[in-house]
Amino acid sequence: MGKKKSIVDFMRMKKEGEPVTWVTAYDFPMASFAQQAGIDMILVGDSLGMVVLGYKGTNPVTMEDCISHCQAVRRGAPNTWIVGDMPFMSYQISDADAVANAGRFIKEADVDCVKLEGGQRVASRIKAITDAGILVIGHIGLTPQSSGQLGGFLAQGRDVKNARALIKDALAVQEAGAYAILVEAVPPEVTGFMQKKLEIPVYSIGAGPADGQLIICGDMLGMFQAFTPKFVKKYANVAEIEINAFKDYADDVRTGRFPADEHVYHILEPIEEFEKMFREFA
Ligand code: KIV
Repeated sequence: MGKKKSIVDFMRMKKEGEPVTWVTAYDFPMASFAQQAGIDMILVGDSLGMVVLGYKGTNPVTMEDCISHCQAVRRGAPNTWIVGDMPFMSYQISDADAVANAGRFIKEADVDCVKLEGGQRVASRIKAITDAGILVIGHIGLTPQSSGQLGGFLAQGRDVKNARALIKDALAVQEAGAYAILVEAVPPEVTGFMQKKLEIPVYSIGAGPADGQLIICGDMLGMFQAFTPKFVKKYANVAEIEINAFKDYADDVRTGRFPADEHVYHILEPIEEFEKMFREFA
């Protein structure tokens, strides 16, 4: 097990141009596999609502869902930097709510930091959480919790006006005290500018090269079947592997190939003794 990274490592990596590897995970096995693979950071994203709970979007996800999945991920990856994703309505109402809910992630789920969506409009939330001593990652660009306002799951910053607004958002997030920022579905030209302009690490999901890359495990592993964003590279087709395994199992059961002799516990006394005992029930 490698040494757990800290913000000192993440700042050094930005300075030295060493990209951070970051994936989502939502449960014990996935977190454990990510840690065994040497992944630097895990996001317990509210994408868990779509990837593992079967919701159409992320907004139904509750604090309880997030805390319980973060706890499982922490058990699976005790030595990996874990980011808890603040779900819809856990920080939108007030600074006080935001601090209380961010605090729950730290106290109850032992995560290393929290992430929340938005730029200038959540600056006071980021400041309040940071002032409480909790590390924050900002998230701008395509922000799924407010995708309705964006007109859907659409790329952002593709025209100068929108890119200018995003850069202002990024600066506000940094100014408010976030130690890093995640940029989603933004052209590489805009992300590259932010990466140079900001002192904090700029991470990308679908936003081209940056100080680190995030990918959703359900997408990269081929487990999420509803849709695949353009920016995803698929590294496996776990859905196909699992469906084929279930089919093979069902076929084996139906044809009597399973269970076989090697899958059963053998008796420890002669069969005659058992037959005698069975007769007692005749
Ligand atoms: O919930 C999540 O996985 C996220 C990513 C889409 C960035 O917030």
